[in-house]
Amino acid sequence: MAHDRPFRNRAGTVIMVLTTLEGPARMTPRLIVSRQMPAPVADRIRAEFDCPWPEGRDMDADEMLNQVRATRADALLITSHLKFGADVIARLPDHVRIAATCSVGFEHIDVAAARARGLKVTNTPDVLTDCTADLTLLLILGACRRAHEYDTIMRSGWRRGYGLGEMLGVQVAGKRIGIVGFGRIGQAVAQRARGFGMRILYTGPRRAPPAIEQGATFFADLREMLPQCDILTLHARGGPATADLMNADTFALLPRGAVFVNASRGGLVDEEALIAALQSGHLFAAGLDVYKNEPAFDLRLAALPNTFLLPHMGSATIETRTAMGMRALDNIAAVLGGGKPIDPLWT
Ligand code: DGY
Repeated sequence: MAHDRPFRNRAGTVIMVLTTLEGPARMTPRLIVSRQMPAPVADRIRAEFDCPWPEGRDMDADEMLNQVRATRADALLITSHLKFGADVIARLPDHVRIAATCSVGFEHIDVAAARARGLKVTNTPDVLTDCTADLTLLLILGACRRAHEYDTIMRSGWRRGYGLGEMLGVQVAGKRIGIVGFGRIGQAVAQRARGFGMRILYTGPRRAPPAIEQGATFFADLREMLPQCDILTLHARGGPATADLMNADTFALLPRGAVFVNASRGGLVDEEALIAALQSGHLFAAGLDVYKNEPAFDLRLAALPNTFLLPHMGSATIETRTAMGMRALDNIAAVLGGGKPIDPLWT
């Protein structure tokens, strides 16, 4: 009788050994990757896995499932573009043992269905914290300092000097920044905002210990924090519990002229309410990296002068995307090697 046994070689690579009546035969673990990866990650995949490579395009769930069946894949490397719902999980053959998402967010995954199926699922926390916090500061500064409008002026051929009272932004030094969600990324944003001379307010499920809080003011209730915020930035998880957290009522609680930033998930925001607040001037500006519908975002946001918009690029640096891909592969190698995942979504 034949059966698969995993072990690691000295380099840590997972090797599958198929034991047959004729004796052991070496097999490379089989992986399906749903999206292009940075070059060093792709190199490692080629070196350590048997993997049909998607040619410069994203795989949808049907294509991924076809590839899984055709190759008898042991593992999946997915990203947040691929909806990994109960319907997809139900169609996964038993030989798939782990799905590693190359993202910290996992709203695209039906965790309950994956658990029930006995599938191991991992994400890539930690490695993208600094990168996403940096981009949040870019959004804050871009929105406060009218980066989109200034850039547009330059690209259309600036030929007229502006008066001292024209085209003014808002200063960030001395402002109160409200952080919604004080996890890794929220804390890293606070650290950077302190460097810019901002006062830190935050809300989340629980108060952080003093060493993490570092003088920041905690609000148990978002609605009590909002009237105190000159700048509001979201760093909470997506999903049903936070859907439309920012809506007409909550935007109205911000002081007139506040700046709104979102680098977490578009689902947290009622975009009709956001657009209305930007049009009326209740919000001075918004800096956004995430949208309700991606990539087909609401083009009314692009038509507004007081938005600074990025195409969901929070983790998009060479260093971070490489680290994320490597971390996802480490998780896969751990599980296929018979060990525990490093970043399980549940324990
Ligand atoms: C993440 O890692 O969750 C990023 O937003 C990419 O989806």
